[in-house]
Amino acid sequence: MTVLGIETSCDETSASIIKDGKLLSNVVLTQEIHRKYGGVVPEVASREHEHQIISIVDSAMKRASISKTDLNAVAVTYGAGLFGALLVGLNVAKGIAIGLGIPFLGVNHMEGHLFANMIDNPEFDYPFLCLLVSGGHTQIWKVEKFGDYQLVGQTRDDAAGEAFDKGARILGLNYPGGPEIEKNAQNGDTKAFHFTIPKVKASEFDFSFSGLKTALLYTVRKISDNELKDHVPNLCASFQEVIIDTLLDKLEKSIDHTGLSKIAVAGGVAANQRFRQKAQNLEQKLGVNIYFPDLKYCTDNAAMIAMAGYERLKNGEMSSLNLRAVPNLMLDTVCHD
Ligand code: KG4
Ligand code: ZN
Repeated sequence: MTVLGIETSCDETSASIIKDGKLLSNVVLTQEIHRKYGGVVPEVASREHEHQIISIVDSAMKRASISKTDLNAVAVTYGAGLFGALLVGLNVAKGIAIGLGIPFLGVNHMEGHLFANMIDNPEFDYPFLCLLVSGGHTQIWKVEKFGDYQLVGQTRDDAAGEAFDKGARILGLNYPGGPEIEKNAQNGDTKAFHFTIPKVKASEFDFSFSGLKTALLYTVRKISDNELKDHVPNLCASFQEVIIDTLLDKLEKSIDHTGLSKIAVAGGVAANQRFRQKAQNLEQKLGVNIYFPDLKYCTDNAAMIAMAGYERLKNGEMSSLNLRAVPNLMLDTVCHD
């Protein structure tokens, strides 16, 4: 079974081919144009997707050495994401499915991230715990099997990636903030500034990041403009450290609570090297296995969408061509019609 995956939910235009669960190609084009605006501009993102999507799909097929007639299904992100951006991928996928008379599968973007660890590691099996850390979400899911997900913990306000992005903006760094903060933190001291892991009273598994952003803002306000540059590495190192410690603190509690020993991390923040390093310490402390996807499958990509689509196809599922883009799609409301 050969599946074409398409992803256009935010600022990556991507297409991928998966054959019988094995990756044949994954082409990702990141829209650099948003850097100058300090964040993703929805209308610009839709236009860029529209300009690029056909050639990205073509090059994914070329790199996989297949032609359109080899395709057995088309999987595409239908939410969550930016409405216009989602529409581009969704309509191209529907057009290909109708034109070739093959099944069409709408995939929840977050469900794609959950399966990112299976791209390089097809033996990765259930049940597992997944810490999903992206620009829009920070959640811990217990994955019993494909389509059976239980939410263990989630952020009450900002996502971890959002905290990196907003923190970077406060420090005058570029978008996306995660890689910028990571780069600057390499020359900084994690203990130079004191930020504490935020507590969420209602649930020991839930996260909160908006207070950290405010704490960073107040710290920066006390520093004069001409001195700020000198403090950026230390501020980045200390801020990055508390975000990572917060993530690992909740993850540890969730591992204890669920008793699971196979842990997956996914989403853009999983690209962070300091996070990977500190997760290894937790791995050893708890005697569990914590898996991170290859860097190229942490941030948005169509390979994870094709993989989730392939899993759904194996389950005999397909989506209606009436499926619409759902910008605020939740994982527990995955549409399996
Ligand atoms: O999963 P993703 O590509 O898109 C969403 O679905 O949101 O995640 C993007 C987020 C951004 O907030 C970005 O700042 C963050 O992931 N990110 C990182 C790193 N690379 C990307 N955060 C920390 N360290 C990184 N190296
Ligand atoms: Zn994502």
